[in-house]
Amino acid sequence: MFAVKTLTKRFGANTACDAVSFAVDAPKMIGIIGRSGAGKSTLLRMLNRLTDATEGQVIHEGRDILALRGADKRAWQSDCAMIFQQFNLVPRMDVVSNVLHGTLNRRSTLATMFNLYPTADIEQAIAILDRLGIAEHAPKRAEALSGGQQQRVAIARALMQDPKIILADEPIASLDPMNAQVVMEALRRIHEEDGRMVIANLHTLDTARRYCDRVIGMRDGRVVFDGTPEQLTTGVARDIYGADARFSEEATSTSIEALERSDAATRAIRAAEAAI
Ligand SMILES: Nc1ncnc2c1ncn2[C@@H]1O[C@H](COP(=O)(O)OP(=O)(O)OP(=O)(O)O)[C@@H](O)[C@H]1O
Ligand SMILES: [Mg+2]
Repeated sequence: MFAVKTLTKRFGANTACDAVSFAVDAPKMIGIIGRSGAGKSTLLRMLNRLTDATEGQVIHEGRDILALRGADKRAWQSDCAMIFQQFNLVPRMDVVSNVLHGTLNRRSTLATMFNLYPTADIEQAIAILDRLGIAEHAPKRAEALSGGQQQRVAIARALMQDPKIILADEPIASLDPMNAQVVMEALRRIHEEDGRMVIANLHTLDTARRYCDRVIGMRDGRVVFDGTPEQLTTGVARDIYGADARFSEEATSTSIEALERSDAATRAIRAAEAAI
């Protein structure tokens, strides 16, 4: 249903994505991991046509996505909603209006200018917020919410587009472990209950292992791993992140358990030092 074929992006002499290929036969939750500069964001941006590819193909349900122009391109961008690390909400606008922005592509300029939304859309926005557990915040300004709540507003805005695919670029990189978990669980539930495909760039191994059906590892623009979380062993992770890097599971982890483990280790070291 979805295939990426030798997708390449060059910036001058620098190849950000180098012949990336993968195919997905059913909606999956896919994590993309790799160190900074590996090409993860560039890949997502090409998939939703924010950036033009230098070479390659993206095929979705038989359509050549990179050839779409004008209204067809905008319809595709609506079909694959994007979620960003920094939420990209309008901070001073209320939550429900931020969510309703997800319907912009199907509304007239005049209706947008005067903030006129059909009642059905407003009800739908509230229902989506309720599903994400934040309906009570609907009238508040977006800036009054916590990071985790704001990211859920961004997910609600994406769902307003009724997308087939959700592309998330480091959706939890700015969040504390607790909020990170809530946001990842929301994405997982949306995938399972609605059958939407989710492709998320993740900077932590354990998050990819825990929430994704499939993990793609990138290094220097190339896919160096494509498999299940079980296949993503520490040895493979070393290869993705670079063997010489002082690689540790904790260093690439945001999970509460891992933080607790490292806290416990720190406490043990301090206790040992105090005993000397
Ligand atoms: N607009 C641009 N112009 C020039 N080079 C770019 C541009 N965008 C990205 N690059 C380069 O492409 C490579 C891949 O960048 P990209 O942002 O896709 O990496 P990433 O894996 O998302 O990294 P991070 O984990 O830091 O977000 C890097 O070398 C980067 O400097
Ligand atoms: Mg990035």
